[in-house]
Amino acid sequence: MKTLTLHSYKGGTGRTTLAANIAAILAQRGNKVAVLDLDSWSPSLHTIFRIEPNSGFMHQYLSGSIDHRELITDLTPALNLEGELHVGVADYHIDVIRENLSKDRKWHMNALSRLLHLKEELRDEKFDYVVMDSSPGIHSSTVNAVVASDLTLVICKIDNFDLDGTVQLMDVLYERLDKETAFLFNKVPPPMLEEPRRSQVEDIIENAFGSDAVLMGFMEYYPEIPLSMGIEVHALTSPDLKFTRNLKDIVSRLSIVSGYAESASGEC
Ligand SMILES: Nc1ncnc2c1ncn2[C@@H]1O[C@H](COP(=O)(O)OP(=O)(O)O)[C@@H](O)[C@H]1O
Ligand SMILES: [Mg+2]
Repeated sequence: MKTLTLHSYKGGTGRTTLAANIAAILAQRGNKVAVLDLDSWSPSLHTIFRIEPNSGFMHQYLSGSIDHRELITDLTPALNLEGELHVGVADYHIDVIRENLSKDRKWHMNALSRLLHLKEELRDEKFDYVVMDSSPGIHSSTVNAVVASDLTLVICKIDNFDLDGTVQLMDVLYERLDKETAFLFNKVPPPMLEEPRRSQVEDIIENAFGSDAVLMGFMEYYPEIPLSMGIEVHALTSPDLKFTRNLKDIVSRLSIVSGYAESASGEC
């Protein structure tokens, strides 16, 4: 089983959109996939998968008050998939969000043990992939998600707001935790991907992250994505959309990151 966390310095980079779609693509390829909402600042997976949960939230699992069967919802019966897609959502009510954000260090240490335990339970149930959506920045819940993952996929926009902060995250988070990291640039304005701008952009990225950084690729800004108001997983509904085709290529390339595809049963 392989665990992938989508992370970013800033909010709004597309972590949730990409986490949901990557999980769907992996499930379309015959894998058993769980996608988990670890974004305690702004939970969103329930929105994009259009489910109205009223119990079984991530903070309850991390506190030890429910078990993984109460957390995970199987979406497979409603979808046409080769594999399986399961989701674990987070509570989006403001009072719960406020409470979750004020948890102390001890709570988060216990939460990390619970998260690692959840991985063990999912491994026992023969899941191939766990995809985790996380909060931006360096909140403790994010650090836990990065610690618990095999690969952190850093979602970044190509502007200095995001690049400067992401470079810092390299130092204070990914390298310090000695975590495999790959970069995916999202919402890229299409003119940036045409020469001569493209070469300049690639130089900027190389200067910022060094030549060793694993670059998974660029996802353009596709207007169809925000036009669906965040309630559509395009990999499921629009297989021929350029967004979906490009993301499928990126998912296939995840295997270039050392060892990432080795123990998975399905194609990656
Ligand atoms: N490649 C893309 N092209 C255009 N819009 C995108 C793309 N990826 C994400 N978005 C849009 O950006 C907004 C923020 O995305 P979201 O996934 O909620 O980000 P995050 O989880 O990082 O806060 C949403 O309106 C979403 O539809
Ligand atoms: Mg999000």
